[in-house]
Amino acid sequence: MKNIGIGIVGIGNIGSYLYKEINSKKNEIYKNLGFKINIVGVSAKNFKKKRSIKLNKKLFFKNPIDLAKDDKINILFELIGMSDGISKKVVETALRNKKHVITANKALISKHGELLSKVAEKNNVNLEFEASVGGGIPVLRTIKDGLATNKISKVVGILNGTSNYILTEMEKTKKSFNDVLAKSQKLGLAEANPKFDLDGSDVLSKVKILSSLAFKKKISNNSCLKNGIENIDLKDIEMANNLNLRIKLLGITEIINNKLFERVHPSLVPKDNYIANINGAMNAVILNGSPVGESVLQGEGAGPGPTSSALMSDLLSILRGNIKYPFGIPNNKRFKIHSYNSDFYENSLYLRLEVRDQPGVLSDITKNLAKFKISIERLIQIPDKKNKKATIVIITHKCFEKNSLSCVKSLNKNKSILKNPVLIRLF
Ligand SMILES: NC(=O)c1ccc[n+]([C@@H]2O[C@H](COP(=O)([O-])OP(=O)(O)OC[C@H]3O[C@@H](n4cnc5c(N)ncnc54)[C@H](OP(=O)(O)O)[C@@H]3O)[C@@H](O)[C@H]2O)c1
Repeated sequence: MKNIGIGIVGIGNIGSYLYKEINSKKNEIYKNLGFKINIVGVSAKNFKKKRSIKLNKKLFFKNPIDLAKDDKINILFELIGMSDGISKKVVETALRNKKHVITANKALISKHGELLSKVAEKNNVNLEFEASVGGGIPVLRTIKDGLATNKISKVVGILNGTSNYILTEMEKTKKSFNDVLAKSQKLGLAEANPKFDLDGSDVLSKVKILSSLAFKKKISNNSCLKNGIENIDLKDIEMANNLNLRIKLLGITEIINNKLFERVHPSLVPKDNYIANINGAMNAVILNGSPVGESVLQGEGAGPGPTSSALMSDLLSILRGNIKYPFGIPNNKRFKIHSYNSDFYENSLYLRLEVRDQPGVLSDITKNLAKFKISIERLIQIPDKKNKKATIVIITHKCFEKNSLSCVKSLNKNKSILKNPVLIRLF
């Protein structure tokens, strides 16, 4: 196979950059590896749409499924982005027609990676998805190849550039969440509908892919602890700053007592910790393994350049030969893993309560905490005399997740607490 036909489904942000990148690198690839690669078909939703790249109209397939089956294609890129529907159909059809597939689609892989990897293995083709986690950071290949024989116990990451940018900018500019979100949308760092970036869903998809590779298990479909950054207020950012901490949206996966604990939530990280200093749209992943110890990877987590870098590395990996298992080891050697019961997760908490400034409120709150076996390490009270209100910030000693959630529920019923309490876990 020296002439390689390439198809690209999805020529939006990423697909159009990749189109240029393949054309600009094809001579170098021929010189170095002896393969003549050519884009022989593209597809998107709207044939008539004006695009930033000049497309040869003859290459356009109105139906992406026809492209996925076309005889001229050896390798298909899926760059649409849906977790189901046409994305799944295109990838599955291509694999069943013995085409190698490369995708940047974390939603698809985290949901249907099991089925699709089975189909790839059965048809003796590759399914590559390096660009689905960490953009340009080669984290999946690092786990599959560079750390292949390590026993990985924990992975911690900043895996969403949009959230990290918003948290960084709020601290830097002292502007509100909504103002910074609007700015990041203007800069193209947040999508028009940023829901999945902000509510932790995007990070959770990536965590699920990381877990399955790092621990060599099936992708979990367990329900997970997932909180986003939508409720982080400038007050919390400033309070964290005063406490020498910084708020980061972390994706964490680890094995506890042979069970899988995956979680996504904002965390208060000491400012001198490495992960607290990953700023702006940057991503980072810290892997703990034996015998390697701690490995840290950092880089641009999104955008057409970094994402295309990962897609091109998948392309070259396929060209260099050998059919690789999508998840590093054969499917029949990857088993299900039970999930850790997050009720027993022990952690210190940051609680912010907006209260009426009146006698008895503080003692009600401390009684409530005691009822749920939560003890206080530090308490800060900031009065707002003019409005007869006060802000109370409590840092607790370690307590069980189950108790902390029940406590917040119970505090919510207290009429002297004016807004839903803010709970952030300490790292
Ligand atoms: N953007 C990033 O920084 C980034 C980073 C890492 C991974 N990714 C992943 O890369 C993938 C693509 O993202 P993107 O930012 O390039 O998205 P995008 O700009 O929205 O592009 C999506 C493309 O899919 C096409 N499409 C939509 N529905 C279709 C359908 N029913 N049939 C055929 N084509 C269809 C669209 O066609 P039209 O052009 O005709 O509308 C468009 O070309 C996603 O999986 C995303 O998660 C993106």
